[in-house]
Amino acid sequence: MEDKKLIFSGIQPTGTFTLGNYIGAVRNWGPLQDQYNCIYCVVDMHAITVRQDPVKLRQNTMNSYALLMACGVDPEKSILFIQSHVKTHAELNWILCCNTQFGELSRMTQFKDKSQRHPDDVNAGLFTYPSLMAADILAYNADLVPVGIDQKQHLELARNIAQRFNQRYGDFFTLPEPYIQEIGAKVMSLQEPTKKMSKSDENPNACILILDDKDTIIRKFKRAVTDSDAEICYREGKDGINNLMTIYSTITGKDFAAIESEFAGKGYGDFKLAVGEAVADHLEPVRTEFARLSADKEYLKKCYTEGAEKALRYSQRIVSKVYRKVGFVDRT
Ligand code: TYM
Repeated sequence: MEDKKLIFSGIQPTGTFTLGNYIGAVRNWGPLQDQYNCIYCVVDMHAITVRQDPVKLRQNTMNSYALLMACGVDPEKSILFIQSHVKTHAELNWILCCNTQFGELSRMTQFKDKSQRHPDDVNAGLFTYPSLMAADILAYNADLVPVGIDQKQHLELARNIAQRFNQRYGDFFTLPEPYIQEIGAKVMSLQEPTKKMSKSDENPNACILILDDKDTIIRKFKRAVTDSDAEICYREGKDGINNLMTIYSTITGKDFAAIESEFAGKGYGDFKLAVGEAVADHLEPVRTEFARLSADKEYLKKCYTEGAEKALRYSQRIVSKVYRKVGFVDRT
């Protein structure tokens, strides 16, 4: 690999990503390939921290892999793989678990949220989820981790774990930096704009899926919750409009001032329609490319097999050094 900074990021295999996943993370993954060495993975091992239907998980993992490619990740430029194919993640996870405190994991807001949502299955994997995420990143000694704001706390923990390991065993891990964009790092629900947009929302109108067709996207935006005044401007308290402006801005590249003047004197209906159309048109090529790639299972298989080989080769070097550092006996 060339001598550039290393980027690592991952995404859960929900099959089709939300507009939040896309704007907050995935749409940047393609352009980053030109500036950095990039490693991206579909985190199927994280996915099983909540109950999954095995048939659907397999399908969703394949779809997520193809969708990342459709969104611009090029397996020739990046290492793109499926987490469970690369055993070093699980191996390093164990060591990092032994360097992570119960108290630290208990404070994770995502753990608290998910254990409230699934009170009948608060399993140990859900609890140690951030340690596996730290292993994903540290197995490559990544410098930068592009994510949305909701992952910031997990990343801070990953840095703390790395720092603790370095103190105990001597400097080894790079401390990964979060790479969070200013606009669009938290796309909100279209129905409750104080809440993050998420696929787990029960109201299907709250969330745009990037494989939704044009009519569905426009319909969901038309139903977006706004406020009772009629001015299209970015201001505190106008959560719904702020969210729509953020989405429109990230998709069209226009700044807030330009959007305000474009829609001066126009109504919310016009604005919602414009946002819907811009998003649907922007995502059209992603949908087309996804359909093309999904039909070519052989090619996908070749890509994820090669991706896993490269990821294993890279991370094995690092993880075997970690094994030595903690005092494990060399096997050969
Ligand atoms: P996941 O699969 O929930 O989300 C993938 C990426 O999408 C971002 N995101 C959002 N950004 C803006 N607005 C939203 N509404 C929104 N919803 C999601 C997330 O911040 C994330 O960047 N634990 C991770 C996956 C992971 C990972 C890693 C990430 C596993 N190992 C190592 C980075 C590095 C997760 O569940 O993301």
